[in-house]
Parts: sequence; structure tokens; C-alpha cells
Amino acid sequence: MSDRPRLLPLLGATRHGSRDAMTCLYRCGNACDHPVPNTSDNPYLGDIVDAEVSRRGVVRAGAVGALVLGFGGAAAGALAGAGAASAAPADPVVPEAAGFGRPAGGVGSGALTFRPIPPNKLDTLVVPNGYDHSVVIRWGDPVVPGAPEFDVHAQTAAKQAKQFGYNNDFVGVLPLDKRGRRALLVVNHEYTNEDLMFPCFTSLDALTVEQVKVAMAAHGMSVVELERVDGTGQWRPVESGRRPYNRRVTALATKFELTGPAAGSAWLRTAADPKGRTVVGTLNNCAGGVTPWGTVLSGEENFNQYFVGGDAAPEELKPKLARYGINTTERYPSGNRKWDRADERFDLAKNPYEAHRFGWVVEIDPFDPESRPRKHTALGRFKHEGANVIVARSGHVVAYMGDDERFDYLYKFVSDKKFMAGDSWVARKHNLTLLESGTLYVAQLEGNSAAEIDGSGKLPADGAFNGRGRWIKLVSGNRSYVDGMTAADVLTFTRLAGDKVGATKMDRPEDVEPSLLTGKVYVALTNNTDRGKAGKAPADEANPRNLNKHGQILELVEDGNNNAAETFAWSLPIVCGDPTDPSTHFAGYDKAKVSPISCPDNVAFDATGNLWISTDGNALGSNDGLFATAVEGPERGHLKQFLTVPLGAETCGPFITGDNRSVFVAVQHPGEITGATVENPASTWPDGDYAKPGVVVTWRLDGGPIGS
Ligand code: FEO
Ligand code: CA
Ligand code: CA
Repeated sequence: MSDRPRLLPLLGATRHGSRDAMTCLYRCGNACDHPVPNTSDNPYLGDIVDAEVSRRGVVRAGAVGALVLGFGGAAAGALAGAGAASAAPADPVVPEAAGFGRPAGGVGSGALTFRPIPPNKLDTLVVPNGYDHSVVIRWGDPVVPGAPEFDVHAQTAAKQAKQFGYNNDFVGVLPLDKRGRRALLVVNHEYTNEDLMFPCFTSLDALTVEQVKVAMAAHGMSVVELERVDGTGQWRPVESGRRPYNRRVTALATKFELTGPAAGSAWLRTAADPKGRTVVGTLNNCAGGVTPWGTVLSGEENFNQYFVGGDAAPEELKPKLARYGINTTERYPSGNRKWDRADERFDLAKNPYEAHRFGWVVEIDPFDPESRPRKHTALGRFKHEGANVIVARSGHVVAYMGDDERFDYLYKFVSDKKFMAGDSWVARKHNLTLLESGTLYVAQLEGNSAAEIDGSGKLPADGAFNGRGRWIKLVSGNRSYVDGMTAADVLTFTRLAGDKVGATKMDRPEDVEPSLLTGKVYVALTNNTDRGKAGKAPADEANPRNLNKHGQILELVEDGNNNAAETFAWSLPIVCGDPTDPSTHFAGYDKAKVSPISCPDNVAFDATGNLWISTDGNALGSNDGLFATAVEGPERGHLKQFLTVPLGAETCGPFITGDNRSVFVAVQHPGEITGATVENPASTWPDGDYAKPGVVVTWRLDGGPIGS
């Protein structure tokens, strides 16, 4: 029997937007083709109305607290307030981090003046007139000094472990000097596509064990030192000298330390690690975030697909594995990579607990290349899209997180300890412990027009999809708040805890990111074509369309503008799709003037607080792209398309530097179209031969700030 990975039929295959069957297979193990793992009958939005929640009004403080801009990069910085270690602006926490000075002006001052580009199907990267772009780094380029030159016909695991990995996803850029000339690029490598990586590919079974190890080494993360090109917004890798920060983290060999209440628990112990504290490798690292203390967080997402032998796992464990999408009925689920050939810990028949050691948020300190990256159990275990941190007014740090699966949940973590400002050794050491202990919450939302929601996307009479919500406490330190589950149970099987407490089933929560300028939180809900199907949760006000192909953006405003609050207000500023579709909504902005958008995935902010949204699986037929809109003032909802990526690719990242002069995106899986190979590529981006994932930087030709 052929072991050719089962590619899904193309026609009508819109389970994942317009994503190709090949992407579904390799990226998430055909997740959309499998039953939804959440079979719980927990109530959906509107079923549970917490009287306390509904009585309390939204407290919208006029001032957000002292704004801290010391740390460059739109994904960093912090809100500090009365209870913080210092109410004054924080010093840069990264060596000489003030390099990316911010433009003058406040929130909403950065009008987006670029002319939107049209939807297209070109096999190239398209940016607006007046802008240019270049490839910063691509698959196979050297990362570690002395890395061998890339030769696709002679690749080895040892070479790959020194070169840039495959399928770049999250992008973070952290300044290295005050003059803004040097920076560290930190990138996730989410998954591999063996069809497009190995010449003469025939089947996953036919790969050699060495090739399996190449794929394992192509997963993980990269840290690469960059230099600015001639004072422009362009950046390139430093190609000579010591480059002490350059580093590869892989699924093959990098050791991670488990931290937090579940570390060392019985669930995390294996034969190879009887103490349950050290894991080899990280898997399917999707999105992430830069912390205010200069580290990078990375989410382990579709880790389930790397395991085999679930059919032979202990019976009592099977429901727990199945809730995470792990197949418990077949030894080799269709299209899986059979990594057990290279390392038997991926065989659940032999190591049933190994799967528990993935699905965490990883923290890496790019400024300490010798440091061991950590997996933080206090942030729970699910299909983590990513995690983004803000310092609450109290000084506690808050991480917002999505579990990217149909009908799964939205979470946040609030630290026990407070953020310590400054770049002293003491502050840095302290802040590195912030994610090791705290309180984990899951979200429950209710609409205020529930009776009017019919699944069509018709806007309620009050003019908004909106309502109230609360954060349900799951665990705090070692104390569980979930009946019948210990703290280690809750943290290791967080999805089951969410089911028990009645969390709200969402339309695939992907990136969740707070605006550091306003404290408001934005959630990309990418799509859910199962919404409203027989036996599945129907549309509700936060997920207002049945068979939701295009997704929506949710805005969450914590009560009192306190990111550590336990109650919030929410609304949907953008309900995606073609603006001529009556079920779309762009915050009331004139729809004739907005760009069509489908399947929002990653979100980011520029230095003036505009929201940038990248897409994955444009169900409108265009290539994926990057969009931007103001979220405050009269331009709120004026969404414009900034770029498109080449054929078959997804737009990841994005990252806008704190000086607003450079927009980075990751071009993930270019040419990933069923039937494509190295010899017969569906995309020849970026070099004109065969497709290679790569990171791109875009800048304005006249040197001005992006978009304004
Ligand atoms: Fe890897 Fe949720 O996208
Ligand atoms: Ca409403
Ligand atoms: Ca994503």
C-alpha cells in the first residue's frame, strides 16, 4: 500500500480558508479533516449570565497610566502604574535598547497614508507604490557562524541545525544598540513540508532516518544578528565576525527546562526524564511575542500530529490525548511523519506521557545564547498559537493566549510577581521568573443582543456585536479552582478544565495581542466552518456567523483598563470578508473604501497604535496578505491592504519596528500547492528556482515612517 501522504481534494476544500490540502496535511496534520476535539457540552455564549458581571458597567478610565516607551519595537514596552516597581518610564531592559526611537505624537496620530494594493494571485511579494522590500533571510541560509553553504541535494541534520530552519512564522526584532543599527531577529520555524524540501521525494516512508532528522532540525527557532542598511528601513544579516547571539533551537537536540507548578509532576515524567523537568525539542512553534524584559515567547501549536501509537496508549489516558487531537484508534494516522523511526519517544505505545511535554509556551532569552529555553507550565497546555505580554497597572504581567482549534478557548495568565523596571542584572533576573507562577484564567463571553443572533452575520439593532465577559479562574499557583482536578491536572489538561468551567467556544482563537498604547486587547478569530452545523455550537454574538469562512477580530477592554481585571467588555470591530458581503462589518466605516480580508491570523501594532493583521488561507481567492487599520478615532475600521505574499504562501509575523520604519513579515510555505515538488515548484519565490520560506523587510523609499 502506498504511504504517500493523503492529500485532500482541492475542489471545495475550504476547511481552512482556501488553504491548500498540502498545507492542511503538513501544518496541522489535517486537523480540519478530523473530528473537532472539543466534544464537551459546556454552555456556549449566552447560556450563563453571571449576574455580577452584567450589573457592572464598563469603567473606561480616561488615562491609561504612565506610558512606557523605553523598549523599542511595537511588541514591547509596558504600561506602568501606581503599583509598579516604578511609575516612571522604564529604562530599556535590553542592552542599549532605545535604538528604535518612536515618532512623536500619540495614539491615532499615525494616519495610514499608503495606497492599498489590490488582491492578486501573483507569484511575488507586492507592496504599495513608494515602498520597497528585500529578503532578509531564507531557509538554508547560515545562522551559526561557520554554517555550511546550503545544498538542497546534500542536506544533513548537522548542516540544517546551523542553518535557517523551514517555514518561518513568528518574527520578533529586538534592538541591540542605541543608534538603531543592530538588532536581533528571532523567528519560529513552525513545521516542515518534506515534499518541498527533499529532491526526488516520493513518500514520507521512503525518507531516510537522516532526512527525518533534517526535518526535526528544520523545526524550532532561529536568532540572527541584523544590521541596518545605509540608514534606511532595510535590514540584513551580519555576515562576518563573532555574532555571539546567533543560535538555532531545534526539535532535534535543544534541551528545555520545564518550570511552574506542573514541572516534575507525574504527568511530565518519562523513562528518559524520570524527574519530569527536561524536554528535548520544541514543536510546531507558531506565533509568539516579545516581552517587556526582552525575551521572546513562542507557542507550541499542533504538536499532536508528531505522535504515533496512540491506539496502544493506556485506555484511561485516551480521552485526554483525544481532547488534544491525538489519534487513539490507529497506530499511524494518515499522513503522519513517523518520527518514531528517528526517536522512539514519539511513539505513545512506548512513551505515553511524551505528548504532555509539548503544547506549552516557550520562553527564550536571545541576549543570553548559553541560556536554556524554558517551557512555562503555569501558562497551561493547549494548542498555543502564541502569547503576548503587557504590564498591568498593578505591575503584574499579563499574558494573553489563544487555543487555535475550532470551538476552543481564549486564556490569560496574571503573574504573582510584579515587573521590575530597569536593565539592571537584578531586574533582569527577577523578570525572567515572572511567568513561572501566577493565575490562569479562561474566558466566558455573553452578548447583549443574544436574541437577535441568527447565524447570518446581520448586525443587531444596537449596531454592534458586543457584550460583557469574565475571566474564570482555573488555577492560582498550586491551587486548583476546578472540581476534581489538581493544579498539575489543570495545567497539563487545560482544555478539559476549560470544558468543565463552561468557557466560551470560539472560532479558532489565533493571535491575541494587547495594544501597549491603550491596553485594549485584539483577538484574531480566524474562521470556523463547523459553526452552526448539526450537533455543534450555534452562532452567538462573539462568533456571529454559521459556517464562518472568513473570521472576525474581537476587541476586549478590561474593566478599569486594568489588564489584571476579572471582567471585561468586548466587541467585534471587524467581521471579515468581501465588503460587498452584507455579513461583513468594518466598525461602521464606509465599506466602499476598505480592502477585502479573509482569515485573520496574526496581529501586531505599529508605534502609533494602528492594528496590523496578517491572513492565513484567504477564502476570497487572493494570495494572503498584510492589512492595517486605525483602531481609534474617525479612521477606525478603514482597513487597507499593505502587501501580498507569493502563491501558496501565508503571511506570518508581522512585526513593525518601534521607529515605524520597517515592516517585517515571514513568508511561510510559498508554493505549498498539491503536486508541487522541488523539481516542479508551484512557486519560484524568492530566487527563481524552487520555493523557500523566508523573512522579508519592507520600507519606505523616501525613508519616512511606514504608513504615515
Ligand atoms: Fe499555526 Fe494557528 O496557526
Ligand atoms: Ca450587541
Ligand atoms: Ca498562525
